[in-house]
Amino acid sequence: MKKVEAFIRHEAFEPIRMELLDKGFPSLSIAEYKGSGRQKGITEQYRGSELTIHLRPKLKLEIVVDDKDLPVVTETILRYARTGQVGDGKIFVIPVEEAIRIRTGEDGHEVLQAHETKEIPAGA
Ligand SMILES: Nc1ncnc2c1ncn2[C@@H]1O[C@H](COP(=O)(O)OP(=O)(O)OP(=O)(O)O)[C@@H](O)[C@H]1O
Ligand SMILES: [Mg+2]
Repeated sequence: MKKVEAFIRHEAFEPIRMELLDKGFPSLSIAEYKGSGRQKGITEQYRGSELTIHLRPKLKLEIVVDDKDLPVVTETILRYARTGQVGDGKIFVIPVEEAIRIRTGEDGHEVLQAHETKEIPAGA
């Protein structure tokens, strides 16, 4: 199992979420982050004085998938997150040892994403 951690622009999230859902990956987490990349900062004016902004807002998307599903997930993120401009973000891939569904105690990669056996009603 692998965890994909992607720092992306906010605008990229909704198309990525819709495509991952469509491809059978409904389960993910996001959080608001602030970060810096290679650029040293952006200089802006604030009440007449120069102000350098070092931290920019980003979304962090986290999604844990089976190893075989890693390429489709990274390709989906790249497709929508890449504009070609600096600040498009970065993807990290991290090994995951175990996943356990708390409700049932089941473990393994079967618990990660869409149920193959039955539909779960919205809101469940
Ligand atoms: N090595 C890293 N460790 C942790 N977070 C990182 C790392 N690199 C990038 N990030 C996160 O990703 C965000 C976007 O990075 P960014 O796209 O600016 O990377 P970059 O290497 O500067 O590439 P680019 O030249 O395309 O801007 C950062 O604001 C930060 O939140
Ligand atoms: Mg950068």
